[in-house]
Amino acid sequence: MKLSILIAAVLALVSYQTRAADAAVIANYTKHCASCHGKDGTGNTTMGKKIGAKDFTDPKVVAEIKDDHALKNLKEGVKDKNGKEIKKPFTGKITEDEMKALIEYSKSFAKK
Ligand code: HEC
Repeated sequence: MKLSILIAAVLALVSYQTRAADAAVIANYTKHCASCHGKDGTGNTTMGKKIGAKDFTDPKVVAEIKDDHALKNLKEGVKDKNGKEIKKPFTGKITEDEMKALIEYSKSFAKK
């Protein structure tokens, strides 16, 4: 009896922490990423269309995302072929772990 209460408490805590983590990732995404990639991940924003953001809801697009490339892209930013910066580096704004979580989140649009 006592054990089942303990298990229930642990399970409740774990699911609470997972939800809190998700909420933090979504908040970061909304703040730093949605202007180009869209809240829905489609990249269908004024900025996203201008610079050619990919459609993260397309499983084919997501299948081509390489995590290490995507991480480099977030750390160092992206320049177009003329050397003009189209995506600013996120180093210093968010941690590497947050970047990794955001990449996972970006890729999850295709599964929803
Ligand atoms: C200023 C607009 C802009 C913002 C802000 C932005 N991105 Fe991007 N992102 C782009 C563009 C443009 C590309 C396509 C670059 C390319 O061809 O790889 C891209 C590509 C990506 C990719 C695919 C990378 C790959 O290796 O193929 C991922 C994942 C991604 N962004 C995630 C994010 C996340 C997470 C954030 C927020 C921390 C973010 N982006 C913020 C413009 C933006």
